Amino acid sequence: MSTFRRPVFINQNAQHATNSIHDTTDIQDFHRGLPNYNPTPLISLPSLAQELNVKNVLIKDESNRLSLPSFKILGASWGVFRALATKLGLSLQTALEEMGEAARKESMKLFAATDGNHGRAVAHVAKGLGIPAHIFIPAALDQQSRSAISLEGASIFESSTYEDAVMEAATTAESTKGGILIQDSAFLDYETIPGHIVDGCSTMLQEIDSQLLELGHTPSLVVCPVGVGSLAHAVVRHYKTQSLRSKIATVEPDTAASLYKSLNADEPVNIGTSHTIMTGMDCGTVSSTAWPALRSFVDASLTISDFEAHCAVQDLESCGIKAGPCGAAGLAGLKLLASTHRKDLGIDREAVVVLFNTEGTRQYPVPHDISCDDWVSLTQVLTRIESTNPSLSISDGSGEGIIANYIQAWLEHRGIESHRLECTKGRPSVVGMVRGMGNGGRSLMINGHIDTVGIANYDTDPLDGKLVCRDGK
Ligand SMILES: Cc1ncc(COP(=O)(O)O)c(C=O)c1O
Repeated sequence: MSTFRRPVFINQNAQHATNSIHDTTDIQDFHRGLPNYNPTPLISLPSLAQELNVKNVLIKDESNRLSLPSFKILGASWGVFRALATKLGLSLQTALEEMGEAARKESMKLFAATDGNHGRAVAHVAKGLGIPAHIFIPAALDQQSRSAISLEGASIFESSTYEDAVMEAATTAESTKGGILIQDSAFLDYETIPGHIVDGCSTMLQEIDSQLLELGHTPSLVVCPVGVGSLAHAVVRHYKTQSLRSKIATVEPDTAASLYKSLNADEPVNIGTSHTIMTGMDCGTVSSTAWPALRSFVDASLTISDFEAHCAVQDLESCGIKAGPCGAAGLAGLKLLASTHRKDLGIDREAVVVLFNTEGTRQYPVPHDISCDDWVSLTQVLTRIESTNPSLSISDGSGEGIIANYIQAWLEHRGIESHRLECTKGRPSVVGMVRGMGNGGRSLMINGHIDTVGIANYDTDPLDGKLVCRDGK
């Protein structure tokens, strides 16, 4: 572990309990009535409990929820149902077939932006209702996620970033007859449907309550992955009650730490994110309705590297659990907290910890470890990353994209401000900035190439150690 990693944010002002109790019976009845509904398993992980010296670690396994590999369908289905019921003037008791028929008659169309799972879930619900779905994605979305959305019969539209995709989905929905935006993040005047999406997660939390009751457990710590913060919003609302009062810790990717940075600034901060294998959590803005609740009730907020998420995927695999990087993020976060903040979060031999495997196995490029602090091992890692300059190499150089991702992740892991510049497409530069403190101090700029030059076009052996002029003499 890097000695210089970004510290865990401990919320000294975290409140203990919300006053409001939400009646979620309607929502649970709705989900129970969907085809293929079954409660997902809550699985004990005794070997991890022993390793972390706690009473129990349990993981809610959402790798197969209503036939999709993520919990997101819970919020998407309830959000769509509520939105259609309102638009069509139908009651919440309306059968799905009837809702679909009425929606088709009125030419309703669903719009959503996604970094993977939410859009797929909206597309799946639209298919079930027999209405079209238009899903907006960031350019960086991987091929597997794109194909999964297409297979649900949705039309895909590419935007630059996730935030652009949200805005483009919103404006297109607004200007399309019968268009409804089904977004899991709230902004400006758009809060009702995201609120229903948060409510939809309550079915999973109610299931956990029943499953824990059977085991005679009360959760002392709940560790929740965060993208836009809607799941965490549902989690704090559920667990910070008069009767439960569990501690809540949130986990984000180092390179998409919008909640972490907002909590540190004590106000919502929009950030530019950079590459992560935790694609479902790659969001630069916390949902506006989630923010006040997260600010008040989250006890600890931390960020993890892609490599830590990858190691947690492997840990879970050895326990027989199929998790993607977002699904394993909670375990990576718990491991850090168990080694650094036991007292703050009540992690002791009586502790019962709940995690969420929010997604099933997914393909991703295996990340390099960014924890190395010493320059020799860092240089060793850097030289292993393909970074050939495309214009100075005979063979097609892959450019600086991957090495820029690594450098930015390395900086963010240590809480160093980072900026990415891309004056030429595919040829990014990264600027890391440690701002000076004190009066009149002078700034120091350190500058280096991050590309390498292919050796295929050298006339002589460029690695033989001989010093020669460029023309070979
Ligand atoms: C697999 C997975 N885990 C966690 C999250 C985080 O949820 P939220 O965006 O509500 O914070 C997402 C969001 O899409 C996700 O897809």
